[in-house]
Amino acid sequence: MSNFNQESVLSVHHWTDTLFSFTTTRDPSFRFRNGEFTMIGLKVGEKPLLRAYSVASANYEDRLEFFSIKVPDGPLTSRLQHLKQGDEIIVSRKATGTLVIDNLEDGRNLYLIGTGTGLAPFLSVIKDPETYERFEKVVLLHGCRRVAELAYGEMITEKLPNDELIGEYIRNQLIYYPTVTRDPFRNRGRITDLITSGKLFADIGLDSLDPAHDRVMICGSPALVADTRTLLNSQGFVEGNHGEPAQFVVEKAFAER
Ligand code: A2P
Repeated sequence: MSNFNQESVLSVHHWTDTLFSFTTTRDPSFRFRNGEFTMIGLKVGEKPLLRAYSVASANYEDRLEFFSIKVPDGPLTSRLQHLKQGDEIIVSRKATGTLVIDNLEDGRNLYLIGTGTGLAPFLSVIKDPETYERFEKVVLLHGCRRVAELAYGEMITEKLPNDELIGEYIRNQLIYYPTVTRDPFRNRGRITDLITSGKLFADIGLDSLDPAHDRVMICGSPALVADTRTLLNSQGFVEGNHGEPAQFVVEKAFAER
């Protein structure tokens, strides 16, 4: 088990009957870049049962946070959803992933497109002071089916603007745009449609996407990732990766849990 740390659960929050978050202790030796994911899980018998999870906390925080769906009969989440304060979980000592700002060329505005639990890596990215030093405006889009699934909305609009370290960045540079597709809400529709129709840009008061100065990160279902990639490619955006920064980066939200 030397590749893993044992951590203990500090808090659990259930958003809906299919979504929950939890925080754990953090071994001081565990390093990650904001936006990365790691392997976490439980020991089932003698064997570790592990899945990839984006770290939803920032790399300067002393606890780790994770945002998860509950998959009916999912090998891990059917167990994980019963976590309680004081329970032990295992966390890999390594983190990786493409959704880090170093994989993007310099630019003016940064768009973070997350659907469902695909929000998780961006919770880490929006807490990073460097994000605001590199980009003028940071637009966080969270798309869900239902209003109840818009997790973390209150943290983003109430808590972060008053944060000692990043409050000023949040107040001046972060634009949070939650949207839902299957409930009445102030913002409605799929993120791809809101981009194509121009409604998003009218609502937030920014120009339409332009590869010359906008940068984009995407995290969601395979369909969301594929459609958004096609949309961006058609507008001339080039996809980046490790060692090859470009104009947008993608990662699928992990679904098999
Ligand atoms: P919709 O309700 O129209 O399917 P999911 O829970 O399936 O991952 O969906 C989360 C959100 O992402 C929903 O609002 C859903 O809209 C939207 N969505 C799903 N697939 C796509 C896609 N291919 N392009 C854009 N938005 C999508």
